[in-house]
Amino acid sequence: MITLIGFMGCGKTTVGAELARRTGTEAVDVDAVIEEREGRPVSRIFAEDGEAKFRELERRMVAELCGSGRPMVLCSGGGVVLEEANVRTIRSAGPVVWLRATPESICRRISGDGSRPLLAGALTPQIVSDRLEPRLPLYAAAADIAVDTDDKTAEEICREIEEALATLGRATPLPEEEN
Ligand code: S3P
Repeated sequence: MITLIGFMGCGKTTVGAELARRTGTEAVDVDAVIEEREGRPVSRIFAEDGEAKFRELERRMVAELCGSGRPMVLCSGGGVVLEEANVRTIRSAGPVVWLRATPESICRRISGDGSRPLLAGALTPQIVSDRLEPRLPLYAAAADIAVDTDDKTAEEICREIEEALATLGRATPLPEEEN
């Protein structure tokens, strides 16, 4: 299993799909699985039950997926690193890749998308930056490698991930190499 972490709008879903294709595994989006199980979007979970409830569902889902033994690229939610337990879980399941993006490009990518309760309303790079800054040390501490994503295609990003993991001695695992 490889886990992708990073702020909202850094490209985890797009890169995850490409990385899964290249490694012959499947991309699993933690938020999407939570939404499927709950039968409601993340924005409604936040609105109806609050962030703490969402974090609890997220922690349980991360533990379940990481414990499943299924070869996959795990596309986490941007706040996964807020919980220490999640960091321990994803790190013990395999390499953790931080997709970095500037506030400007994050802003461009998620402006007008109403699905993210923590960045609802009119967005500016400054608002994104204020939210992103406190998380930077958490992403850095959780990750084995970091890749800048601005102005790169998913394919270029995946190539960088593969090279960086190979340098680390943690080649992107093929399904039959997973335990
Ligand atoms: C969140 C990121 C979202 C989602 C939720 C909270 C966060 O996922 O889990 O809205 O705290 O950064 P994406 O990073 O996939 O948008």
